[in-house]
Amino acid sequence: GKGKNVNENSKNEQLEQFRVNDEGKQMTTNQGLKVSEDEFSLKAGERGPTLIEDFHFREKMTHFDHERIPERVVHARGYAAHGEFEVYESMKEYTKARFLQDPSVKTPVFVRFSTVAGSRGSAETVRDVRGFATKFYTEEGNYDLVGNNIPVFFIQDAIKFPDLVHALKPEPHNEIPQAATAHDTFWDFVANNPETAHMVMWHMSDRAIPRSFRMMEGFGVHTFRFVNHQGKARFVKFHWKPVLGVHSLVWDEAQKISGKDPDFHRRDLWESIESGNFPEYELGVQMIEEEDEFKFDFDVLDPTKLWPEEEVPVKIIGKMTLNRNVDNVFAETEQVAFHPGHVVPGIDFTNDPLLQGRLFSYTDTQLLRLGGPNFHELPINRPVCPFHNNQRDGFGRQTINKGKVSYHHNSLASNTPIPASEEEGGYVHYQEKIEGRKVRGRSESFKDHFSQARLFWNSMSNIEKAHILDAFRFELGKVKSKYVQQQVVDMFANVSLELSTVIADGIGATPPQGEVSESEVMKSSPALSQINTKKRP
Ligand code: HEM
Repeated sequence: GKGKNVNENSKNEQLEQFRVNDEGKQMTTNQGLKVSEDEFSLKAGERGPTLIEDFHFREKMTHFDHERIPERVVHARGYAAHGEFEVYESMKEYTKARFLQDPSVKTPVFVRFSTVAGSRGSAETVRDVRGFATKFYTEEGNYDLVGNNIPVFFIQDAIKFPDLVHALKPEPHNEIPQAATAHDTFWDFVANNPETAHMVMWHMSDRAIPRSFRMMEGFGVHTFRFVNHQGKARFVKFHWKPVLGVHSLVWDEAQKISGKDPDFHRRDLWESIESGNFPEYELGVQMIEEEDEFKFDFDVLDPTKLWPEEEVPVKIIGKMTLNRNVDNVFAETEQVAFHPGHVVPGIDFTNDPLLQGRLFSYTDTQLLRLGGPNFHELPINRPVCPFHNNQRDGFGRQTINKGKVSYHHNSLASNTPIPASEEEGGYVHYQEKIEGRKVRGRSESFKDHFSQARLFWNSMSNIEKAHILDAFRFELGKVKSKYVQQQVVDMFANVSLELSTVIADGIGATPPQGEVSESEVMKSSPALSQINTKKRP
């Protein structure tokens, strides 16, 4: 019946057609010619020059020379696994997405976890945001939830993303540091773009040094829309909650592990799955009625804000289990292409200006990274449902489309693909009413940068506060520019006088000029007494 065309094995069965077992086989060239010798190139005389007619040497060497593809411009270091997702009860009231209707349906998924800043070979336990990207292979097409382990983001508008990444990646003149926030350009960006305040609080917290991929939350960050069969829409935010709970390393451990086992997180994930100890995450949603859009003291379209769970509770709706490691990291983990714009009927976008820009960026980068317009044909990216359209040709095309007509609205062929109606599952964008002048700018409702950062700080226990203070003092302490350090100290006085004063004290900057004196703040800081090393670095 409806919803049963895809099961948890669908993706595995599809991948099976592409798996090759080379074991015990005779060696051939790519043309299938058996090879008689693979250690010596063809030469004119035993001590003579190599001959250009040695096609075996040429083919082997050429293929090797072309093995590398560009790493992802962000999230280059990642690790992935296969699994399945099941919804606990029908979400029909809220969304028509088919994979969220029937608890007996198991949808295959592929999840890639990542760090953001480091290159493909960088260490895994560094202080960084973690990517948490999930591809659901649903019977209505692929749905990608491309999230992070922190519920908010650094910036509000996608046009700043290249600037953000230029600031947090290694500095371009000397490519230092590899994967760390401990440098001038990162903090200079923070100080001059105060909307970063909330995310930076999370970044300096223990959330940025997770114990394991199995012990991290995931967040869609943006506000999306659920749309049901009646066409009624609601705002929605997505959450992954690890069944094992959220756990972090402490900084000292994180640093030592980086040296002793830079593969710590991938090893943990691989070994857990190999030993049948399958990581599980529950999917949660927060929903806000459209008519309540303006009832909050933040803008629901602002990705630097979360929806406090006390005000908008998280409804747990399903569970994902990761139960199978990849066969080949390049073919699967590296070639997978996630995209926040891969949606299914029942899930739609909002005007979050960060999300809107992401909708452009991912395909654009993948056209380069995966070498042309046919990367949807790569085994890991293929939907498990059939796909048909009039797109043709391009580098690496594998599909052999039949027939002479490849355009829509024609009279020569009766069997070319035609669009589906909404009832037949055709995707129809939510008909949001839009009115406005064409402007560059930011709504006034996006201008409060410190309230939620303060809320975060105030919600921390003393030991958590101590870890945050230590992190600021360590990371900001590495900054060479005294001017940048001072700007950061001044900026975070807007979050907490205690936070700002203790940072200033740790790095030799001038404490903020508040109503209470520095010494009073220092004396009354319970978090300060938890810090082991007073002066850093
Ligand atoms: C990867 C752009 C914000 C999560 C990427 C990639 C690009 C990109 C170009 C590389 C993709 C690839 O090579 O396949 C952007 C832009 C953003 C933005 C322009 C803001 C305007 C975000 C946010 C999140 C996020 C807010 C989390 C909600 C991810 C993840 C990956 C990624 C998880 C790695 C996907 C994988 O594992 O392959 N992003 N990003 N990004 N991004 Fe974003």
